[in-house]
Amino acid sequence: MSDKILEMKNITKRYPGVVALDNVSFSVKNKTIHALVGENGAGKSTLMKVLSGVITSGNYEGDIYYKNEHCEFKTIKESENLGIAIIHQELALVPYLSIRENIFLGHEHSKFGVNDVYKMREEAIEVLKRVGLSRMPETIVSDLSVAEQQLVEIAKALTKHIELLVLDEPTSALNENESNQLLNLLLEFKKEGLTSILISHKLSEVIKVCDAFTILRDGAVVETLYRGIDEVTEGRIVQGMVGRSFANNYYPPRDSDIGDVVLKVEDWNVFSTAEDKQIIKDVSFDVKRGEVVGIAGLMGAGRTELAMSIFGYREGQKASGKIYKNQELIQNNNISMAVKNGFAYISEDRKVYGLIQMSTIKDNMTLVNLKSVSNNGRINFDKEINEVNTLIEQLVIRCTGHEQVVETLSGGNQQKVALAKWIFSDADIILLDEPTRGIDVGAKYEIFSIINQLAESGKTILMISSELPELLGMCDRIYLMTQGKIIGCVDAEDATQETIMAQLI
Ligand SMILES: Nc1ncnc2c1ncn2[C@@H]1O[C@H](COP(=O)(O)OP(=O)(O)OP(=O)(O)O)[C@@H](O)[C@H]1O
Ligand SMILES: [Mg+2]
Repeated sequence: MSDKILEMKNITKRYPGVVALDNVSFSVKNKTIHALVGENGAGKSTLMKVLSGVITSGNYEGDIYYKNEHCEFKTIKESENLGIAIIHQELALVPYLSIRENIFLGHEHSKFGVNDVYKMREEAIEVLKRVGLSRMPETIVSDLSVAEQQLVEIAKALTKHIELLVLDEPTSALNENESNQLLNLLLEFKKEGLTSILISHKLSEVIKVCDAFTILRDGAVVETLYRGIDEVTEGRIVQGMVGRSFANNYYPPRDSDIGDVVLKVEDWNVFSTAEDKQIIKDVSFDVKRGEVVGIAGLMGAGRTELAMSIFGYREGQKASGKIYKNQELIQNNNISMAVKNGFAYISEDRKVYGLIQMSTIKDNMTLVNLKSVSNNGRINFDKEINEVNTLIEQLVIRCTGHEQVVETLSGGNQQKVALAKWIFSDADIILLDEPTRGIDVGAKYEIFSIINQLAESGKTILMISSELPELLGMCDRIYLMTQGKIIGCVDAEDATQETIMAQLI
């Protein structure tokens, strides 16, 4: 028997106007961890959708061999039955069901025709422990952060009999510690005989754990590197991904005049009525004009809750405290008030808060500020299209044009549209929640440049990121947050990853 668990041969997948995969051949050796890397829109997720039967046989050209058997999957279930599990980039849990219900959805254990809740609960506890998530199985999924949901997805996969696990950007929402924990989990799984395919834009971690590396560019394979045979470096991978060598300086310089305090938050408290607990405790902070201020914290520290509550989000929550803009007390009691007060929020979960999936790139981008492209109440369509095309170019959004429906963009390109939307708005206080989640190295640089331009033009920027190097590279100051409280503030210039982590743990 060959040592390959998977061979995909000459796979071509076309969409109207794009060849997403162009004659791709991809094979994976048994009991290895194989990285699949490439820029946003390179075709990584599409290749994995072909493998798992999301894109069904007949809708692509080429052949799949799994354990030497030719496969033509008509449904996802068929690939699952053979032991292939895929965790998609866009998480797919049912938000109003519990962790346990999600884990066993579609393959419930039953006894005498009745769901065996006791057994499922036991098993759920066990797999949650294995992935390191300390939550009760009864917790409702919508109460979990994106990062925690990711762990539930992995736990769900573990309860099935799997031999090939595909993870599409599993660590993009996790910080370094959480990522390491997950990667160690993959290494452990490997020892137990599991094969994994890992899609990630975090090249340093991919290099740490993977045995082989396939680089895709524009829907085609550039090369596959093997650890121990080829020289595997970040530089070489990036060069393959973007087709040119890339400057080592990932953070562009900023020349911004820092002015007076624009945003001041005092004694901010948020109580979750849904969970019956206080999630933000006596938080006070400020951000000046032209300043980029970060918030560092571990998963569950309350960073997203803080940003969202300041942006007026109140579902299942009560908030109290004071928000001042330019020393004037303002009320952000709901999102539309916050938008009127000049706030923008770019979220880590673009599906829910960021974009209208069924709408075009153009309509998504201009929705919040149509008046800027209107004269006397009429939209000037030429102006609108011009502005949208400029943003598409600036952010290097890979698309067939401004009329492409957002849902059909690659994950990273959707994130860029979400960002463009708020750049286009005339907000002057911009809250960025994991703005580069799932964005490739080249495009990250573009996004950082745009953040710098925004700050240089006098906007006030608050940035949440799980990646400390990103905060250190981009921020003037960084607030440290644990368990709903701000425990300190450091100048980014004087801080290091180690000094920050030491305070956060
Ligand atoms: N349903 C669809 N209709 C039209 N085009 C699509 C559809 N799905 C994907 N595409 C296009 O196929 C190309 C490859 O997308 P894919 O999602 O595979 O990229 P990716 O490598 O996973 O990128 P990312 O890193 O951003 O997740 C993109 O140009 C995308 O716009
Ligand atoms: Mg993708």
